[in-house]
Amino acid sequence: MEKVPPPDSRIDMERVPAHIAIIMDGNGRWAKQHGKTRSQGHEAGARNVRVVTEACRELGVRALTLFAFSTENWNRPQKEVDDLFRLISRAMQQYANRIHETDVRLRHLGDLDGLPKSAANDVRKCMDLTSDNKTMDVCVALNYGGRAELVRAARRLADEAARGNIAPEDITEDTLAQHLYLPEHSEVDLLIRTSGELRISNFMLWQISYAEIVVTPTLWPDFDAQALYDAVIAYQSRDRRFGGRP
Ligand code: FPP
Repeated sequence: MEKVPPPDSRIDMERVPAHIAIIMDGNGRWAKQHGKTRSQGHEAGARNVRVVTEACRELGVRALTLFAFSTENWNRPQKEVDDLFRLISRAMQQYANRIHETDVRLRHLGDLDGLPKSAANDVRKCMDLTSDNKTMDVCVALNYGGRAELVRAARRLADEAARGNIAPEDITEDTLAQHLYLPEHSEVDLLIRTSGELRISNFMLWQISYAEIVVTPTLWPDFDAQALYDAVIAYQSRDRRFGGRP
């Protein structure tokens, strides 16, 4: 398998974002540009997941979160939804060993039970296989919505309060963050959106509070390792103040 190029020498390897999240947009437009079907566009997009995962690993990124299927994506035509899940299943089967060999762990955020059974099983198998890996987490958001994640956290906290395990006044930002899908990755440093749209689309609403945002016109299937390195260079040129003064 083709190797990704080593990190761009302009990158300061001491200040690499620990958590990168990506809204992978533009598969449909890429397909149109290349005279292909939407399904082929999504296939090209799925192939690119491996490339970007490996580039992140080269950089020493700790977590990469990918928006693969939103709670709103069910509104697409049934055929496209079926194609997407077939593809996600295939990607899980094909990449499981590759991810495993490189010590990458697969995680999931969203409602897995709402997925077609075979796709959910393939995701679970890949998570089981890679569960002890330590170098990096790839977190796929499938059947995920940021508001739904916050409602789930609120319900869990309300349930604990009703049982008398926590007092309402003890609920803090930290306790809420602990009830998100993947609490250990509750801060995003760099949020990338491909294909130019200036929207958050209900993605990681809590976790992106202080993320640096990079929007690139590049369509997701064309977003290669160098494009990722360029986004990290842009991130490193920013002055992160977290609401304070420099
Ligand atoms: C957006 O393109 C892309 C999606 C809705 C699906 C993204 C899913 C993948 C790339 C497969 C994921 C696979 C794994 C292994 C995580 P679009 O259809 O909205 O493009 P358009 O806006 O140009 O029409």
